Amino acid sequence: MPGIIPGKERFITVKDDILKVLLTEEEIQNKVEELGRRISQDYADKNLLMVSVLKGSVVFMADLMRAISIPARIDFMSVSSYGSGVKTSGVVKIIKDLDIPLEGYDLLLVEDILDSGMTLHYLREILYQRKPRSIRIATLLDKPERRGVDIYADYSCFEVPDEFVVGYGLDYDEKYRNLPYVGILKPSVYEK
Ligand code: IMP
Ligand code: MG
Repeated sequence: MPGIIPGKERFITVKDDILKVLLTEEEIQNKVEELGRRISQDYADKNLLMVSVLKGSVVFMADLMRAISIPARIDFMSVSSYGSGVKTSGVVKIIKDLDIPLEGYDLLLVEDILDSGMTLHYLREILYQRKPRSIRIATLLDKPERRGVDIYADYSCFEVPDEFVVGYGLDYDEKYRNLPYVGILKPSVYEK
């Protein structure tokens, strides 16, 4: 078989399951750096607290925070949505809460993708009750076609079509988060 070095086993890699690269590493890095500069300007006289919604946003968060040049704090939250099957019900349960009270902070919610928007809509309501100074949303990807509730991203790196994407933190069945780019899966992966 081509690509096999005699005597060496061929590893199965996550890349084998990718049909098409939608956003390259370079495209993502350029956008994230640009966004970091914008946020640094917008929050120069604010009290920035970046909140990453686990787990999908972790790669974006790691790159974005390093592109921000002003003082910033970070925290993590984990939520799961109630409801059966494929549809997000919009009611979320907090699995891991923030470590600090939010009063006096300008919150920036960092998300991997804004899809129906249900999860973030609900989460934002919960966090508003804790009386932060402000709440804004930064998302790597935005799928506006899918939006079911009135929510938009204050900062978004890329608009993507209504296709299931993986990589750079985004998963399918908890896999593919470690791909350094964003891609579309081969249909054979879903059909397995
Ligand atoms: P929603 O906005 O409440 O519908 O849910 C957004 C969440 O669904 C994201 O944080 C992702 O975890 C997941 N999600 C939505 N679309 C995709 C996709 O194309 N690939 C991977 N995960 C997705
Ligand atoms: Mg997520």
